[in-house]
Amino acid sequence: MTAPANANRCEPCVIIVFGATGDLAKRKIFPALHALHRRGFLHPATPIVGVSRRPMSDAELLASVHIGEGEGDADGLRAFAQSVRCIVFDHTEATLPGFVAAVDELASERGAGAARAAYFALPADAFEPTAALLVKGGFFHDDGWRRLCFEKPFGHDLASARELNAKITRHFDESSIYRIDHYLGKELVRNLMVMRFANPLFGQIWNSEFIDHVQVTIAETLGAEGRAGYYEKAGAVRDMLQNHLMHVLALAAMEAPKALDADSVRDAMVEVLRKMVPPVRGDFVLGQFGPGEVGGKPVPGYREEPGVDPSSLTETFVAVRACIDNPRWQGVPFFLRTGKRMGKKLAEANIVLRAQPGCLFRADRAVEGEPGPNVISIRIQPNEGISVEFTVKAPGEGLRLETAVMEHCHHCVYGLNTAEAYEILLHEFLVGDQTLFTRWDFVEASWRWVDALTAARGCEAAAFPNYVAGTSGPAEAEALLGDGRDWLVSRDILS
Ligand SMILES: NC(=O)c1ccc[n+]([C@@H]2O[C@H](COP(=O)([O-])OP(=O)(O)OC[C@H]3O[C@@H](n4cnc5c(N)ncnc54)[C@H](OP(=O)(O)O)[C@@H]3O)[C@@H](O)[C@H]2O)c1
Repeated sequence: MTAPANANRCEPCVIIVFGATGDLAKRKIFPALHALHRRGFLHPATPIVGVSRRPMSDAELLASVHIGEGEGDADGLRAFAQSVRCIVFDHTEATLPGFVAAVDELASERGAGAARAAYFALPADAFEPTAALLVKGGFFHDDGWRRLCFEKPFGHDLASARELNAKITRHFDESSIYRIDHYLGKELVRNLMVMRFANPLFGQIWNSEFIDHVQVTIAETLGAEGRAGYYEKAGAVRDMLQNHLMHVLALAAMEAPKALDADSVRDAMVEVLRKMVPPVRGDFVLGQFGPGEVGGKPVPGYREEPGVDPSSLTETFVAVRACIDNPRWQGVPFFLRTGKRMGKKLAEANIVLRAQPGCLFRADRAVEGEPGPNVISIRIQPNEGISVEFTVKAPGEGLRLETAVMEHCHHCVYGLNTAEAYEILLHEFLVGDQTLFTRWDFVEASWRWVDALTAARGCEAAAFPNYVAGTSGPAEAEALLGDGRDWLVSRDILS
């Protein structure tokens, strides 16, 4: 009896990863392709090509890939290894015909057909030259689909993103372009839409009548970690705010899309950005970490990290108050914050509700404690889940108020081995669903808003470093919240 076809299996194609020797390819792309292969999602005729600029064998490429222990059995790993081929290509016109011929030969050997899925795990300045070379060399074929996946950040600011997009769209339609931000593949980020639009419990209160403010935090414990060359030019604003934080904000704030197709969802997301008020001075706080301690170990300041300019003015922290000028969000600030070398690695959104009107419990002297605000927390990582804080009466005589937590522990229910973000997104890329990829108008709108922040920067950097590694960022970020609010870290009762 033949095994039933896997409903998630992709059509045959050649998957080609440019930048196969890079950090991202080794740590994320190839492991995700391995996971898809193990789950039977890749067609057996699909070869996976890693492109290296320097001589490298298939075995050397495979040996560099980070596949953890317990991720697949020996037979599975062998089968995956048979799908992987390293092709050396120095990205020059001189060697282009040989490169294209090698890919076509592999495709016909395996029966992979004419479709090509090209992943650009390259520095952004190599995106367009590489794409243009592929067009020139006849890499794509008219009788098969073509898809190109570009890593983030897409551009450095609005002008450079526009220039890059104009060059790429000279050769390719938007329908072939997949701009990836792996945050959109994270389970709890994807859950935001379901949570809001499938549950009246949340959907009915998701507006300025009930919500006081929203906080989104992405905190990292790492420093530049060998990526100083990139980070020095990017900083926290371009590396994290323009993409991850803006995507979470858009999903948390958008109106219900008309339908669940890629364009309806992305229309609703971009509409939020169009209504965002450009930030001015006083709406944001920038920071850079100095030496400190993380996880009980001393760590150097950013300026002392290898490859970082000792007088660097690059921000490693940003907190910003964002306002959305539409009826749903009048008067509701969205506070976005991200930083390196913070005390705890976490990503979460906290939705803080307005206090209960009236003063029933506050007025009565017999009441101990006060009702706290209801807080809905979406823990993106770690310990993925959703919790709701609410006030209860503690047991015993009298009336003592305490905060209780209702908890949906996502990883307890679904296990820790649910697909990683890159695995989800690579699968969507291979089946041709663009919902979880950034459309050009979102990129454009996000850079426009971020450019306003960058333009409003003053002499903040003169005070760098202004936070101690291992803490929650500069003190000024606390004041940004105003109205007696505090930055929250969800009560993860299960961790
Ligand atoms: N690493 C991450 O965690 C991460 C996360 C999100 C997004 N990204 C994005 O992913 C992309 C790759 O990042 P990465 O960290 O993997 O960088 P990386 O470690 O520096 O690797 C870059 C890769 O691109 C190749 N390359 C560099 N310049 C090239 C050029 N001019 N033409 C052709 N190939 C070139 C390198 O080849 P050689 O080995 O021959 O130099 C290497 O294979 C970047 O756009 C980055 O912003 C990375």
